[in-house]
Amino acid sequence: MLTNIVRGGQKVILRLEDILNKIFSSEQNILYYHGAMPNFFMWMLFLSGLLLFAYYTPTLEAAYQSVEYITKKLPYGDVIRGIHRYAADAMYLTVVLHAIRVYFTDRYREYRIIAWYSGIALSLFMLVIGISGYILVWDQRSLTIVNKFAEFLAALPFIGETLSHGFINGDIISNYTMSMSFFLHTGTSFALLILLWVHYMRISRPVVNVTWAIGSLLAGLVLVIAGAVPALSGEEANFNAMLPSIPIMDVDWFYLWLFPLIDLVGNYGAWAALIVGLVVVTLLPNFVKSEDSEPASVNKDSCVGCRLCSIDCPYEAIYMAPRNDGSKYKELAVVINDRCAECGLCVGACNFDAIELPTYRSTQVMDDIRIALQD
Ligand code: HEM
Ligand code: SF4
Ligand code: SF4
Repeated sequence: MLTNIVRGGQKVILRLEDILNKIFSSEQNILYYHGAMPNFFMWMLFLSGLLLFAYYTPTLEAAYQSVEYITKKLPYGDVIRGIHRYAADAMYLTVVLHAIRVYFTDRYREYRIIAWYSGIALSLFMLVIGISGYILVWDQRSLTIVNKFAEFLAALPFIGETLSHGFINGDIISNYTMSMSFFLHTGTSFALLILLWVHYMRISRPVVNVTWAIGSLLAGLVLVIAGAVPALSGEEANFNAMLPSIPIMDVDWFYLWLFPLIDLVGNYGAWAALIVGLVVVTLLPNFVKSEDSEPASVNKDSCVGCRLCSIDCPYEAIYMAPRNDGSKYKELAVVINDRCAECGLCVGACNFDAIELPTYRSTQVMDDIRIALQD
């Protein structure tokens, strides 16, 4: 059933890509930059964050005022703050679209599974960055977040109390809480870069940059929204008037959805929903049957150990193993199935018809090439 839905979704996505190709050309088709777009917004966040960092003071007494100074007094400070806020939302939105795209087009199997798992970790990291970012503003919403997040952490069995105390340092919200939030915000942002390296590790030529035209369009959109809906603080945090929950109008649904969820189902319910959600997303790749496909396979009798396939394979999916089966050749090509992307390059590299894609015979490859050349 899910397999049929995914296949249906795939047809819709590919059709949409076709239409955009006709209108904008394949080079400027925004759908081909589904992974590059979150990356673009991430660099916008680093750049605008660096400017905010220069004027921000992470203490209970000064945090709110420093953000007010940036927004109201610093030239273009309000624009930079707006860019930071809306690029963060745009990044989450495009990450979700990216995950849907790779899921519906079946691009998460075998060697790509590392990208799927690291992608889930990336979205969790982004959540931590977003929540801690909203604490840094130190308005009434920030105070509610600190309070509810500490209670949420404490509800986790065994390690919850330790985590919660580590987050606010004991039972009292102090400057330590601000430093910790600042650390979580900036430290996790840098950890994101390391995780991205893992994300790209097994992808041979990841498309990480958008074109100039698409980049200008995306940056322009963020700028327009930042100008139209300025990012502002609420009232300064007041311990004597702490709000029991974040007013619905103040919820950023990309990063703060956890808090309305806690209001709805309680801390234990929210933990249960989070864990079940994570398990389901992690296992999603197993719910869809793979299309008929098999990795490359080597015919031992024909392989002369020339190494060409191993050199040409862009996914490092072939290694040369010493032979001890009585053959006059010294080495044999061996395919690492989990890494094979079934791209067929090794089939083209081998002059001895010794390596095949079982579902795509070399004769068929040659026929297809001939037909393509005639077109
Ligand atoms: C910080 C957030 C993320 C960024 C910046 C990012 C970026 C990228 C980029 C640039 C690529 C290469 C795309 C290409 O070459 O066409 C990619 C591939 C991939 N990503 Fe992400 N990604 C993020 C989050 C995620 C998430 C949340 C998931 C899913 C849970 C995910 C799953 C994948 C998969 C499976 C691939 C391989 C797809 C392929 O080879 O075509 N990513 N990512
Ligand atoms: S088909 Fe051949 S070249 Fe392509 S990934 Fe598999 S082993 Fe490597
Ligand atoms: S290119 Fe063909 S003959 Fe050469 S090592 Fe690979 S499989 Fe063997």
